[in-house]
Amino acid sequence: MSIILASQNEHKVKEIQEYLGRIISLKKAPEALEVIEDGQSFQENALKKAQAYYDKFQTPTLSDDSGLILEAFPEILGIHSARFAPEFPEYSDKCQRVLDIYQEKKESYRQAYFICVLCYYLSPQEIYFFEGKSKGVIAEKLRGEGGFGYDPIFLPDAHPQSKSFAEDPEWKDSHSHRAKALESFREFLKTRS
Ligand code: IMP
Repeated sequence: MSIILASQNEHKVKEIQEYLGRIISLKKAPEALEVIEDGQSFQENALKKAQAYYDKFQTPTLSDDSGLILEAFPEILGIHSARFAPEFPEYSDKCQRVLDIYQEKKESYRQAYFICVLCYYLSPQEIYFFEGKSKGVIAEKLRGEGGFGYDPIFLPDAHPQSKSFAEDPEWKDSHSHRAKALESFREFLKTRS
């Protein structure tokens, strides 16, 4: 079976294809759709994306909605992660802005977590969700060149050498919030094959 990915984010597409590529055929959608992500949750936004692509291409669709939650400032990123600090087009500047907020507010509580919600839209009658989380802390400075988005400022608790996602993208591929959600999706696919 062939599934299309309701995402134009090359990094997400790569992480998803690397994880599932050997099991199922996953293709990037032939065209990018403008989906307004105004849902109140990751699940709602994942559904909006999957539904839009399914309606247009009439093919089973997998979408990913994800973001970083700063426990001290939950309203700043979260479901708004992609729209944070629009005055800075580069993610390195958005990351620095996050670090500046901790400085400005003299906040030392740096716990944070990433969430990834996958929506598998098989048909309007069959819609499934899979979720993964990564817990960690916000670094004091940007670290590493790999990954994407907020990876340089996130130090996952589970990393054996306390490296950021951006410093160890290979480790990220198999341990991240996305990897955990993809693992649940993979188990689900096995039960149906
Ligand atoms: P969306 O899910 O495409 O709406 O956007 C999610 C936002 O969170 C974007 O700003 C991404 O760059 C960021 N993001 C999502 N997943 C990750 C990740 O695995 N690492 C770093 N940033 C991420």
